Amino acid sequence: MTKESIWIDSSMRQYTYDPLLHDEETDVAVIGGGICGITTAQLLQKKGLKVTLLEAHRLAESNTGRSTGNLYSVVDIPFRDLKAKYPMEDIQQIIKFRQEAMDLIQSNIFEHGIECSYKKVPWVRFSGTPECDEDVKKDFEIAQELGLSPEWLERDHDILIPLRGRVGFLLHHQAQFNPFQYAQDLAHILSQSISIHEETHVEEIEKEGEIFIIKTPRATLRAKYVVEATHTPLGFSPLQMVLGPYREYGIAGAAHGMPLNDAIHWGYYEKDKVTSIRNFEHANDRYLLIIGEPHKVGQGDSRECMDKLINRGRSLGLIKEVTHQWGGQHYRPADYLPFIGQSAHENQFVATGFSTDGLVYGTLSALILAEALQDNAHPAASLFNPKRITPMKSAKKFLKENLNVLKQYASDYLRQEKAHELSAGEGMVVSHQGKKYALSKDEAGLLTVCSAVCPHMGCIVHWNNAENSWDCPCHGSRFEAKGEVIEGPALSALDQLEAIDEEAPLNFFNKDLPYEKGSSPSLGN
Ligand code: FES
Repeated sequence: MTKESIWIDSSMRQYTYDPLLHDEETDVAVIGGGICGITTAQLLQKKGLKVTLLEAHRLAESNTGRSTGNLYSVVDIPFRDLKAKYPMEDIQQIIKFRQEAMDLIQSNIFEHGIECSYKKVPWVRFSGTPECDEDVKKDFEIAQELGLSPEWLERDHDILIPLRGRVGFLLHHQAQFNPFQYAQDLAHILSQSISIHEETHVEEIEKEGEIFIIKTPRATLRAKYVVEATHTPLGFSPLQMVLGPYREYGIAGAAHGMPLNDAIHWGYYEKDKVTSIRNFEHANDRYLLIIGEPHKVGQGDSRECMDKLINRGRSLGLIKEVTHQWGGQHYRPADYLPFIGQSAHENQFVATGFSTDGLVYGTLSALILAEALQDNAHPAASLFNPKRITPMKSAKKFLKENLNVLKQYASDYLRQEKAHELSAGEGMVVSHQGKKYALSKDEAGLLTVCSAVCPHMGCIVHWNNAENSWDCPCHGSRFEAKGEVIEGPALSALDQLEAIDEEAPLNFFNKDLPYEKGSSPSLGN
């Protein structure tokens, strides 16, 4: 079993790019090499701008390559919730704009001959338990009102039988592909005309007059415009007050039992909780993917979530052996709509809050931003304007989002006396003399101790037991076991032990553990 997503593992062509090693000047610095950043770079380059794309890790590996690979014009919010908040005309517009983004993906695939398992499929929403039947019926009726021509499905429909669906409906003309292969190939084509740098973590963005100075570990990039296609804005942003960071999981394995139709299946086996199920064919083998079980970053048991998905696949008789399991991240906006456009600063642009709809919203962002950088307004710009948030309402939402963080702190205190039992592959936050430490033990039994204080805004990180990372519950920053930034708004790593107080955690355990500065002591028994 691999912890790689099936997309990354099965992609036939993967390309690498050098880090930014020398100072450069450009018109537009696009930060973030997922589908949003790559497509934005493509459209800006087509408009004649010089573009440099910076990615902290590898292109499309952080979230695009960990998504469902489903392309749909609707969104992950049920129609009845959207209707309660927005006029029907706005919902129709959202669907229309998302369709425009799907058309761009399709035309890129056809125009450049990108082989990424693209196919047209229907999208299906169904109930897997009696308590969800009524919700699905209501959404079907609203889909009719929206003029989407939904098709009603009864229990004996061949789409629902293998999923033990009760009732449902489908929309035609949606699509599926391998998102990692698409993004990799599109970037490769683009690399003939723009600069791309991987393993280039942005540490700071400053402004000197009209020019942005983007500092990275080895070199500096000077740019007239900055686009943050980073899933959430880097550093501090008022938008972080209205974005809930969520972690979600995926599993894949050889398909088993009754074959599933090629479709995007969204099943409600529990009230208000969607499980996404689909097929994927690779090298003449048919795989089944199940994605779901989201929880707020840093506040759930990741291992338990993956086990639930595995049990779902087994109980439906659709999957026997799991070959891949992985996690991905998304940010849910308080008012259901993403923020795409100019940030609070002139010539600096953001695209964030895509929820689980990022492949299409990321592409739609490119369409909006390509216009915005040239002072034109895409018809979708006002709907997704980042400046629509109001500070007072946002503060309220921030408090609501973070109330349960306090509970997490309490549980850390309760668990600390068990810290000496830490096993290989585990991590734990402990408190000593008013400071909090993030302790983790690698598979070889070596201990790493970092500060548990997130460098973004000071929340306490939590151990992710399925992905072996430190995850921050406040705005979703994630760090490797040794403290390096994986993703999120944090620009710097967790402080290492030497930088804090090298004796403190060892005293906490009240044991004579051998420890040399610069080495990782074994925690012992
Ligand atoms: Fe904001 Fe950690 S991500 S405090």
